[in-house]
Amino acid sequence: MDDRPMMRALRGETLPVPPVWMMRQAGRYLPEYRAVRARARTFLDLCYTPELAAEVTLQPIRRFGFDAAILFADILLVPHALGANLVFVEGEGPRLSTVTTPDDLARLAPADAVHATLAPVYETVRQVRAALPAEVPLIGFAGAPWTVATYMIAGRGTPDQAPARLLAYRDPETFDALIERIIAATTGYLLAQVAAGAEIVKLFDSWAGALPGPLFHRYAVEPARRIAQAVRAAYPEVPVIGFPRGAGAGYASFAAAAGVQALALDTSVDAAWAAHELQPRLCVQGNLDPLLLVAGGPALDRATRATVAAFAGGPHVFNLGHGITPEADPANVERMLRAIRGAQG
Ligand code: CP3
Repeated sequence: MDDRPMMRALRGETLPVPPVWMMRQAGRYLPEYRAVRARARTFLDLCYTPELAAEVTLQPIRRFGFDAAILFADILLVPHALGANLVFVEGEGPRLSTVTTPDDLARLAPADAVHATLAPVYETVRQVRAALPAEVPLIGFAGAPWTVATYMIAGRGTPDQAPARLLAYRDPETFDALIERIIAATTGYLLAQVAAGAEIVKLFDSWAGALPGPLFHRYAVEPARRIAQAVRAAYPEVPVIGFPRGAGAGYASFAAAAGVQALALDTSVDAAWAAHELQPRLCVQGNLDPLLLVAGGPALDRATRATVAAFAGGPHVFNLGHGITPEADPANVERMLRAIRGAQG
């Protein structure tokens, strides 16, 4: 049995001190990340240069001693590998060519063709695994199909994912075919990450909260269930973490039906509710407000201890409710770690 704290928690063990890592732990709040980022011409170059991507993956482990590393890449590499044009515009975010018609869909690459573009990511995984301390597991990841589809359909981030919802209503055949293509590509991508050395996988459904109730099961739960099942069939020991961000009460049906081993809770989820409704069934991860790492001070200490206490009765991985922001102070991350690891002796 793998007795690393992160693996024990994900298997459902209640630990005296929760393992901890942070969403977006490699990022612009770290001066050493900004230094490596400056050596890459573009953000995509950083993602596709294994030496640089491996280096930024390892930086937060060295600095903070987190209990897990997460591969440095982006959820939009899958659309890119399916043939979408993709650029990250400095200060604005991603811009992609759009997929809204059967013709657009026909121009996409087949799902099993993504590995040619994504091969550097697998090399990053190999390099990180070789360089990581043995006691630190490596998390691989992908975007969940719905969230990836929202970017492919709109060609950019949108406040309410309206273009994707409209396509699902107006042309369900094209929409479903796009979701199927992303499911197949994502499954192959995650299996290849595990083959290269990833020991946990996480599916980021950042826009799950925009799905109306009747579509939540179909486009959030079902794709996650199929992808998790494929990963577990090939690698029964690899835990899958789901993150249906913003799902509210949908977290309960996701926990019951998606077949994942852990659920990442967004900032808005009430900890007492989650401890009662979700934790008896699976490991929960979360869910400190990332802005507390900007604010710092006693508010950070109090909220960190409250999160640890709320989930102390079951399996818990300490994390943020969403990604750490560029404005966060690294000293506040140290402070959070002291509050977690000092909280229970
Ligand atoms: O967590 C980690 O440290 C691993 C790396 C990681 C990145 N993106 C690096 C990144 C992960 C897991 C992601 C996931 C991701 N990417 C999501 C899902 C998680 C979430 O935040 O909800 C989404 C929606 C994306 C798409 C994306 N990538 C957007 C919208 C942007 C632009 C906005 C921004 O924050 O700048 C990115 C860029 C991005 N991905 C950065 C990083 C570190 C910042 C770009 C830079 O450093 O130049």
